[in-house]
Amino acid sequence: MQTRRITQLLLVVAASSLLGACSNFPSRQPPIWVFPDMKRQDKYKPQMHSDFFADGRASRRPVAGTLSQEMYRADESLATGVAAGNTYLARNPLPLTKENLLHGQVKFNTYCSPCHDRTGSGRGVVPSKATWVPGNLHDDRIVNMVDGEIYHVLSNGRRSMPGYRFQISEQDRWAIVAYVRALQRSWRGTMTDVPADSQAKVR
Ligand code: HEC
Repeated sequence: MQTRRITQLLLVVAASSLLGACSNFPSRQPPIWVFPDMKRQDKYKPQMHSDFFADGRASRRPVAGTLSQEMYRADESLATGVAAGNTYLARNPLPLTKENLLHGQVKFNTYCSPCHDRTGSGRGVVPSKATWVPGNLHDDRIVNMVDGEIYHVLSNGRRSMPGYRFQISEQDRWAIVAYVRALQRSWRGTMTDVPADSQAKVR
């Protein structure tokens, strides 16, 4: 009888200690890991303190005069849209192929149309709920901008227009510029631009 009681007690203790190891109970304590594998490793996370360096920071500044590989741009004007002498690049460096234009269309519809709408006139869904109005991309002032200036605007923003250089890659931004040009061209198109055999289909 005595031994049965002790066995029962031991079972209860064993069961409750096992349950205590389950991590799906809300607790601020770290779970008990019998086999921690490589879950805990000594490492520094960004902005952490370190006693190793004299300034007490774990994050180090880049060595003076060096550049990380991701930041290196072989062609500065391609990356910024600004050519030597601080003038905007006149022409899109991307070749005007059908693929690039179609790619620009996809990216424009994704990133620009919420505000500028798919035609570029500026009546997207976002401004319908806001107090500001995006520029009409068919205004003479914007049509007369060189390609580099449009690239610069969509990369860095201007007044209430936000910049998209972190969201959209350089290649994609130039493809968008090419597509904006196509939109502007089509907006100003006349009946003579339409191939003769398709003119009947256009009102
Ligand atoms: C969140 C809304 C929003 C999005 C998204 C947006 N724009 Fe704009 N855009 C604006 C607003 C607002 C203006 C008007 C800025 C002003 O004049 O204050 C503007 C103005 C512009 C202008 C004219 C700048 C000038 O000098 O007047 C260009 C060109 C332009 N946008 C291109 C783009 C392109 C290309 C994209 C896609 C990458 C894009 N925008 C995405 C809101 C947006």
